Amino acid sequence: MSLSSTAIEPLSFRKALGHYASGITVITSHIDDQPLGFTCQSFYSVSMNPPLVSFSVMSSSASYPGIRQAGRFAVNILSDEQAGISNQFARQGTDKWRGVQWQASPLGNPIIAGSLHWLDCEIHAEHAAGDHLIVIGEVKALNLQEATATQPLLYFKGQYCNLAG
Ligand SMILES: Cc1cc2nc3c(=O)[nH]c(=O)nc-3n(C[C@H](O)[C@H](O)[C@H](O)COP(=O)(O)O)c2cc1C
Repeated sequence: MSLSSTAIEPLSFRKALGHYASGITVITSHIDDQPLGFTCQSFYSVSMNPPLVSFSVMSSSASYPGIRQAGRFAVNILSDEQAGISNQFARQGTDKWRGVQWQASPLGNPIIAGSLHWLDCEIHAEHAAGDHLIVIGEVKALNLQEATATQPLLYFKGQYCNLAG
């Protein structure tokens, strides 16, 4: 017996993908004295040698053109105490950095205080894919200190959750 397939409705597409649990990141960069960032679920590792990672960004992103111009970005992996940060960086056209403490990474990208971990990357390649761009970064530095936060922020079926459930 085969599993039946139907036309792919956007809602069912979203719902199906919601079953894939992931962590949450904020991709940040800095250009013209302006920190940039957006909440990003579509982060994954690509290659060990060289060390490559990737994320997908909507073509309509307001922050990505500046990130591209800077040619570098940091991946802030959020901790379970940063659901507010995730929401704040998901709102286009708002002051995303209001009340957010950060420090510059070795490449000059903002590292958000309280993040679980971070990676510092240079843009290695960019590929158009439907209504998104697939961005590949080469990792140039990463967090070598043990973070005070220990638990990840997780996203599953459209909701934040944590490892405890
Ligand atoms: C949990 C969560 C995950 C998200 N993942 C992505 C993603 O992988 N790629 C993306 O382009 N937008 C993603 N978004 C949406 C962006 O964060 C949102 O569109 C943001 O406003 C974009 O900001 P910008 O237009 O200032 O760049 C996500 C939002 C949330 C809440």
